Parts: sequence; C-alpha cells; structure tokens
Amino acid sequence: MSLSIHLSTDNVLTSSRECVVVGVYEDGSMTPSATALDQASQGQISALLQSGRAKGKPAATLLLPYLNGCNSAVLLVGAGKPNELSTGKYIKLVQAATKELNDRSVATAETYLSEIEVPGRSTAWKARQLVEQGESSLYVYDATKSKKAEAPKLNELAVAINATEAQSGNEALRHGQGIAAGVELAKSLANLPGNICTPTYLAEQAIALAADNSSILSTEVLDEDQMRALGMNCLLSVGAGSDQPSKLIVMNYKGLADDSKPYVFVGKGITFDTGGISLKPGEGMDEMKFDMGGAASVFGLMKALCELKLPLNVVSVVAAAENMPSGRATKPGDVVTTMSGQTVEILNTDAEGRLVLCDALTYVERFNPETVIDIATLTGACVIALGHHTSGLMANDDVLADALYSAGQTSYDRCWRLPLYEEYQEQLDSNFADIPNIGGRPGGSITAACFLSRFTKSYRWAHLDIAGTAWTSGKAKGSTGRCVPLLTQYLLDRL
Ligand code: BES
Ligand code: MN
Ligand code: ZN
Repeated sequence: MSLSIHLSTDNVLTSSRECVVVGVYEDGSMTPSATALDQASQGQISALLQSGRAKGKPAATLLLPYLNGCNSAVLLVGAGKPNELSTGKYIKLVQAATKELNDRSVATAETYLSEIEVPGRSTAWKARQLVEQGESSLYVYDATKSKKAEAPKLNELAVAINATEAQSGNEALRHGQGIAAGVELAKSLANLPGNICTPTYLAEQAIALAADNSSILSTEVLDEDQMRALGMNCLLSVGAGSDQPSKLIVMNYKGLADDSKPYVFVGKGITFDTGGISLKPGEGMDEMKFDMGGAASVFGLMKALCELKLPLNVVSVVAAAENMPSGRATKPGDVVTTMSGQTVEILNTDAEGRLVLCDALTYVERFNPETVIDIATLTGACVIALGHHTSGLMANDDVLADALYSAGQTSYDRCWRLPLYEEYQEQLDSNFADIPNIGGRPGGSITAACFLSRFTKSYRWAHLDIAGTAWTSGKAKGSTGRCVPLLTQYLLDRL
C-alpha cells in the first residue's frame, strides 16, 4: 500500500496539497468545487470546457498547472452527463485520475471527486472507491523483475468531504484501506509464478500473516500424512503427480471473544494446473499459475479482516496442490474415496478443482459453520457463460445467495446466480463409483457445483466460480484481486 489517505474538509481554493481534483460534466456544468474554482478564476474552467480543450467525457483528464485564484494545480476529470454517470464509469474515472496524478509526478493531492453524482451511490461509497481504486491503480508487479519498480510518485491522497459526513466518510476510508490491502495481497500472491508460489509457499504466507496478527489470527497447516489420516484421498489424488507436497491451510480469525459460529471460506489453491494426465494444450498454459485465485482471494479477505478487526469469527481453508502429470499421477478412470466416504471416478484429471475442494468442504464441517463459501477458478464454462465481468454464484440456500448477490452489487465486484436444479444432478452418474468428476459439456459450471453440493449437505453453502474474473489476459495480464471486495463486503454486511 503506497498512499497515505485521510479525510479533509479543506477549501478547494486554499488546499495545501499540490493538486486538487474536481469533476466537470459534458454539458459544461460542474461539480460544486469545480464551480468554486471557475468563479475564483473568472470563468477559466467554463472557457476551457466551451472551447473543447477540457472535456467532460467520462475519465477524460486535463491537468492545469496553474489556475487564477487557486493555491494548487487543478486536475479536471470528465464525469459525463450530470446525474447519469454509471457506477462502472465512476470507477474508471477514479482510476484514470489517480494514474494521471501519478504519471504527472504529483506527490500530494486532494480529491473532490466524491461530489460527482452517481445514481444509487452515497458519498461514503464514492469516497471508499477513491481509496480502493486509487490504491489498485498504483499497483505494480515487480517481484520477479531484476529492476524493482520505482515507488509511486503519488503518496498522499486527501479525500475532501463535507464535515457533516465526516463520520461515514472516515469509516468508508477505513473500509477502503482494508479492502485495498486485501486486494493487493491477493494480486501479489496470484501473480507469482508456479515455481515460487507452491503449496508450501502459500502455507508459509499463511503462517506469516498469523505471525503479523497473532492476537486475532492463527494458522494451522496439515501436511499430506495428516490429510491421509483424515481420509482426504480425493484432495491428495490431485497432487499425486507433483513433487510439491499438497497442503491444507487453515486460518482461524477470532474477532469475537465468544465461540459464535464462524463464517467459513474455502479457496481452491491449485498453484499450477497442467491438467495432469488429461494434459491441457500448451497455448496460454502459463495462465494456470492463476489457478490459486480462489486461495488468493481468501488470503486477501483474511488480510482485510486483520486490518479492519471486524468483530466476527471467520475460518478460511485453502486446499493447495499442484496438478502435474507423472508416473505417480492419478489416471483417468482411477477411483478414489473422499473424506466423506463417497467414491469418485476421476474421468478427467483436469477437473481437479472440485477434487481438492470436496475434501476441504467435508473438513470444514468440524467448525459448525454459520455459512460456507468456496471460491474457485473452477470452470472454463463459467468464462463462456458470464465472460470476464461477473463471477458465477451457485448456492444451496437462497438467503445466502441473495446476500452474496447484494454484496457484489455494493462492492461492484459482482456475481450472478446460476441454478442448481436437481435435474442437473443426473449428469453426475458413474458406472464405477458414487460420482464421476465430470458431467459433460452442457452446463459445465453448474455440474461442477453439483459435484460440490454432494459434500455440502450439512450447512448453508455458496460457491463462487471466479474463472473469468480472477485475472486479465492479454497485454494487461495479471491478477485482478477479485473477489476480495465481494467477500469483505459480505462480512461487513453481517455486522
Ligand atoms: N482451472 C481450470 C478452469 C479454468 C479454465 C479456469 C480456464 C480459468 C480459465 C479447471 O481446473 C479446469 O481445467 N476445468 C476444466 C473442467 C473440465 C475438464 C470438465 C474445464 O473447464 O475445461
Ligand atoms: Mn484443471
Ligand atoms: Zn484448475
């Protein structure tokens, strides 16, 4: 995290920061602070808008090094038509503004962008996004580069808010900072290559996180022998072909003195997915280093919790393994017995996520959970169904599904529910075991969740398929940090 962030009730004309950031609209109208600047400068901003040199188009930026009547430089940011800016465009303009400040080497800025009207969003929400998107747009990956990235030039962001909204504003900034720290951890872990980020590495990170937060977080790591003793043969079958030992990582966050039921999260932590004996094609296979994106978002959530010190009990479990082909690897047709006692015919070793998750989902029964949410880059079918903007949501409980949907809308880390109708279960019949691990191409994300549902009967459960949302491909290849905002919002909504 690079920014020092705080609330400010300064006046836009006399700010002590290098630059003030204000919104202007396409029709030539302005946010209140831009209007104040326009008046102080005898209409310079209006003139710039009228001449077309400043633009109100969403996310357009224009840095004015000097403006009559103002102490600071001014960054004008386009905000579209008044009262019509969508949430998504607001987020984009916040990112663009932060990048522009940093690219122009502005070290300290005061932002008035929460004055921009965004239908359905409060000032506090807009302020929180200034933090979340601000931090996120300054993130640079350099862990495996020989030249380290320069520290961002921008180091202080003052968020201007009316004194009357100081209380909700301060809380919003705090939440934003907690979520941003979680997103940053999730990105950093997911971006690491598979030769560094192994199951053992993930376990070490969980131990380190607990060491940094020893009053509220403890970590326990189960090795392969301990998992074998528990009967977690299905999870172990995935790592059988790997030289890297599988790990079950258990992080226990106690935000309450009492033993009230924990919210439980389970993350798919395949640190590299070759497909195993059902080997994947070579093209783009490097992206399967992101197959621990579910685990990364669980780590990010725990980080956010430790920052925010939320008064809840939470247990997170990461099922970590590397899926490799070898002489010891699981073969198509192999039958394994899960911790639950159900047997699984592994028809495709590339459908490995559900194999590690099912045993972890049985394991978490011992926590007597309030709810259980698993997060996984589970199916290519989910990318086809929902693309890259929306995570798949499936659940055995309507109240839980609604809560996650709503947390997704609030955080703008959105998910959309797919059905788990009983008819889909018929695609999971096996001649040689209780269940096969694949259900055919139709409804591939749903049948993957149907598989999981066989292991989640004793509690309220939801499944988030983040195969399309956990990372970006192409030139901007990298982890998105999703769904840390969604998961954190879900817990904030439980307070
Ligand atoms: N990790 C993949 C899913 C995935 C694919 C995530 C593409 C992101 C992008 C998962 O382990 C997998 O390989 N799933 C198979 C399942 C199939 C064999 C039933 C898939 O989706 O093709
Ligand atoms: Mn796979
Ligand atoms: Zn996978």
